[in-house]
Amino acid sequence: MAEGGGLLNRYTGITRIVGSNPILSAIIFRPDMMRDLRLGLLAGLAVLVPGLLLFLLGLPDIVTVVVVIAIGVALVVAFGRRWHRQATSARAQQTTHLRSVIGLAASSGGMPVYWTEHAITPETVTLVLQLIAGLGLARVLELGSGLSTLTIAHALQRAGGGRVQSFDDDARWAGQTAASLKREGLDALAEVQVAPLKEIASGGRQSLWYDLPKMDPQARYDLVLVDGPPAWKGDPLARLPALYQLRQHLSEKGVLVLDDAMRGGEREIASRWQRDFPDLHFRMVDIGRGLFVVCVDKAALDLLP
Ligand SMILES: C[S@@+](CC[C@H](N)C(=O)[O-])C[C@H]1O[C@@H](n2cnc3c(N)ncnc32)[C@H](O)[C@@H]1O
Repeated sequence: MAEGGGLLNRYTGITRIVGSNPILSAIIFRPDMMRDLRLGLLAGLAVLVPGLLLFLLGLPDIVTVVVVIAIGVALVVAFGRRWHRQATSARAQQTTHLRSVIGLAASSGGMPVYWTEHAITPETVTLVLQLIAGLGLARVLELGSGLSTLTIAHALQRAGGGRVQSFDDDARWAGQTAASLKREGLDALAEVQVAPLKEIASGGRQSLWYDLPKMDPQARYDLVLVDGPPAWKGDPLARLPALYQLRQHLSEKGVLVLDDAMRGGEREIASRWQRDFPDLHFRMVDIGRGLFVVCVDKAALDLLP
């Protein structure tokens, strides 16, 4: 007990010192800085260890020096190229992001749009809006409300009508989305309902899934947007039940889209769906955080990049 308390005191003491020093806390608390330090240390060891070995083997100094310099140069070139590639790809992503934001702003009638990291990305929602316009999708079911609800409702209004039925497990967030819809005069086109998560068996496993109201077996949706439940709550396969639960409610031109599809859990979900639904058509689209598109009619795939 005393030992634990001592350790705790020492730990909180250290964190207090580090926390009060902006330079130390920038180094210790920034995960990317720690990763860079680890990489630097490994690179240093990669040069030091062979150099030491050559020295111990008694090779002429010039050989040791040349080998060490060659390893150093190789590391700098390799890491430099890698960092350059990462920076270029991040810049390209930002450009796409900005283009989509500008495009959306132009087409959303000046609706105030505040993007957070939780929201669907601008480029992904743009593609979803293209599907809506291109295929004439009007009946929308959404899991996970937010900016997507607003932009889709707005697109339906422009297209002359339709309806978004959105479900959210978080009552506070559902309330905020509903308030935004009302403020924008879109509440006739979209409704947000709270659906707490409850345990169900689906797709061969137990999952926490939306407690949806009992659906009319004849109900059909042209678009199902799966942007919840949030996987960060602990289950990487949290969205697996979507297709098992909703396949029968997809219309003849029905499309189901799974957001965040580049994550490991969603890739696994995508491969299980492909295995279990051979009558459907699939495409992984490298946009935003990845969009996995499932459609009843193969022709819908022609609209995808
Ligand atoms: C991926 S988000 C859904 C995002 C939504 N489709 C959109 O495009 O804005 C999944 C869940 O996270 C929660 N959420 C979304 N945005 C949030 C925010 N800014 N703050 C807190 N929770 C949020 C909501 O419960 C939502 O259902």
